[in-house]
Amino acid sequence: MATRILLVDDEPRILSLLNSLLKRENYEVTSMQDAAKAIELIRSDSFDLLISDVRMSPVDGMELLKAARQSQPSMSVIMLTAYGTVETAIEAMKLGAFDYVTKPFKVDELLLTIQRAVEYGRALSENVDLKAELIGRYSFENIVAESAAMRNVCEMIKRVAPTDTTVLISGESGTGKELVARAIHTHSRRRDKRFVAVNCAALPEPLLESEMFGHVKGAFTGASANKEGLFETAHGGTLFLDEISSMPMSIQGKLLRVLQEKEIRRVGGTSNIAVDVRVLAATNTNLENLIKEDLFREDLYYRLSVIPIEIKPLRERREDIIPLVFRTLRNEIGEGREMPRLTPETRAALEEYPWPGNVRELENAIKHAITFAQDGRITLEVLPPKIAAKAHGAARPAGEKNTDSGRAKSLKAFLREKEREYLEQVLSAADGDKEKAAQALKISLATLYRKLPPNS
Ligand SMILES: Nc1ncnc2c1ncn2[C@@H]1O[C@H](COP(=O)(O)OP(=O)(O)OP(=O)(O)O)[C@@H](O)[C@H]1O
Ligand SMILES: [Mg+2]
Repeated sequence: MATRILLVDDEPRILSLLNSLLKRENYEVTSMQDAAKAIELIRSDSFDLLISDVRMSPVDGMELLKAARQSQPSMSVIMLTAYGTVETAIEAMKLGAFDYVTKPFKVDELLLTIQRAVEYGRALSENVDLKAELIGRYSFENIVAESAAMRNVCEMIKRVAPTDTTVLISGESGTGKELVARAIHTHSRRRDKRFVAVNCAALPEPLLESEMFGHVKGAFTGASANKEGLFETAHGGTLFLDEISSMPMSIQGKLLRVLQEKEIRRVGGTSNIAVDVRVLAATNTNLENLIKEDLFREDLYYRLSVIPIEIKPLRERREDIIPLVFRTLRNEIGEGREMPRLTPETRAALEEYPWPGNVRELENAIKHAITFAQDGRITLEVLPPKIAAKAHGAARPAGEKNTDSGRAKSLKAFLREKEREYLEQVLSAADGDKEKAAQALKISLATLYRKLPPNS
């Protein structure tokens, strides 16, 4: 991959000189005179190195440097300063510039500085991504658990796995309920026996009953032979009852009896068969509400939820998002191949999106992005449009509340949204004049640019 350099200087002569010099060295160069435009650009595109003049107007190099440090901390920055302005140079270093070169510069010296800066930046950015990948790898049974909430779930799994207690796993769709159930099985003494999953929502009542408990020949029309049920199949192992809330009342009663007696009777059968099965159940609806409506047996609920494990929706544990992204990228592209890079904007969009479909939706979004990614970079444009739209601060439909399905978002995300709304009001009051708006807000123009969505 070619090294990408962003070059900013308001003097056209120097810009074109540097441009041709760097291109001759096989760098991929983007050059511009306007620092405000550069601030916009670095939000959507990533570069290995920024070379910027200090003295420019209306937005100067220091503002650009600050914006760069904020939106792309792993990009190295070299500042070009006029001879004799040591103070500025020192300030630039304090703000995190890699180095400075005084004008007029010696070509060799400049090229050497660039080379060192690029190498340094590479090492740094590899570290950032590596760290995210490593975090993803610190996990239990492939469960990414960077957030306190998920770590807690992992602790619970470790603790309950060796016992034979029933566990009720609850969480929205796509939060990883089956993953947790499998981890419990894998860490139990039953790991060498089978893990059998039944989706209680997938079958109509009579079929579900015979699926779970089996039937004897002639029990009903079409029962042409004896059939073993999944309880028997899972003997010695674990039976995972998925979407338990959909289980019809009649079967709930039978299940309760099996849990108490530890034996089943096949449909139409006359004798009981002893089974040694650990039951795990999952639900994405609140069973207590169903109990109130007489749609779920209270006694069964208490039997199942001896140990409850609740998995929070992804939007309530945002620290897991980026590690999950890296985990999915790694799984998709395979070991040893170079990881695509996320632009800062992409990273922010992924972290802010509410993920109603939770981890499953995230996995699908990343697969989608990989299909369309170019030059090893994942930009906003290759994300599913829904996610990118949020990032662009797209207007919310009227009446939509500032909460995601009634749950709280982080204070930071809320404030950012409010701030953006306010900035846009002030800007429109100033007829779109950004300098005027910045003055009214008592912030620098660069800060205003940083806070506004790109292309606004
Ligand atoms: N913490 C996590 N770490 C790694 N992968 C995860 C995590 N949580 C979920 N996944 C992955 O997300 C996908 C969805 O998980 P899973 O099928 O377990 O969800 P679920 O809660 O059973 O969803 P549903 O209610 O739709 O059945 C799976 O590919 C799973 O491996
Ligand atoms: Mg599931």
